[in-house]
Amino acid sequence: MKLKEIYNLAINKGIEADFRGKEEIERLLKRRKEKYDKLSIEEKKSFDLESLEDPYSDSRILNIAEDKEIKKILVGIDIDPAEILLAKEVGKVDLIISHHPLGKGLVHLSEVMELQCDVLNQYGVPINIAEGLMKERIDEVARGINAKNHQRTVDAARILKLNLMCLHTPCDSLAAKFLKDQIEKKDNLIRLEDLLGFLKEIPEYKEAAKIGAGPKIFVGSPERRCGKIAITEITGGTEGSPRLYEKMAQAGIGTIIGMHISEEHKKEAEAANINVVIAGHISSDSLGVNLFLDELEKQGIQIVPCSGLIRVSRLRK
Ligand SMILES: [Fe+2]
Repeated sequence: MKLKEIYNLAINKGIEADFRGKEEIERLLKRRKEKYDKLSIEEKKSFDLESLEDPYSDSRILNIAEDKEIKKILVGIDIDPAEILLAKEVGKVDLIISHHPLGKGLVHLSEVMELQCDVLNQYGVPINIAEGLMKERIDEVARGINAKNHQRTVDAARILKLNLMCLHTPCDSLAAKFLKDQIEKKDNLIRLEDLLGFLKEIPEYKEAAKIGAGPKIFVGSPERRCGKIAITEITGGTEGSPRLYEKMAQAGIGTIIGMHISEEHKKEAEAANINVVIAGHISSDSLGVNLFLDELEKQGIQIVPCSGLIRVSRLRK
């Protein structure tokens, strides 16, 4: 497979797993195009043209050093210049994939957060409330990212002539869909301890638990009942608005499964009596990345995991 084929496969897998559904994403892209067509020549110059084709602004091809057949990939959760050097050291690495966004993908991270509005709406939060509260938070995230050194790792890849891409939301959506499908199949997830037990059976979480980073209850206690379990915080860029917990409770959500949670968000969840089970950050990221990497492994591509990625192949079962 070539670079662009790998990238397109990730985007398509992301769309398949996206809770919004294919049609809604097509509508979104169509709307973007219509808005673009109405821009002035000057405005078009700085427009992010890739966003017209790809719905995931945090996932990009960042450096093409050589457009060759990809046989070996170094994949990590965070790729820094250290991992770029590592790829050189490992040798014969045709492509480096970072899960967390870098370069242009990092600059545009906040744009994928729109996804959360639709997901919240599916769980019963009125769309006007979801959009209203998310808007503030999206702006806040965009301002926070603005100060970062976006191109640092991309520059390292360019200097060492290595192909680089980042795949964020498509992989997170694969993890979210996996968890949602599995949970819907179960009828014995009554209490938080049951939910915790279920998560701990997933290989990535089992592995993380060995170093003490397994799934944990952050709000609630083992004997508390789950109520309606929502997967609102696994995909969609980063944490949403803390003010949403109260609205989620009103919408009938009892328990949230998340990757990580800030203290401010935890306090709000507590105040709203929403249980929070934190599955784990790097382990949840690994789950989503693994589901995509299996597709590459099927094509005979060799995978070298690094930077926290707990590689589990579901092909060899
Ligand atoms: Fe992450």
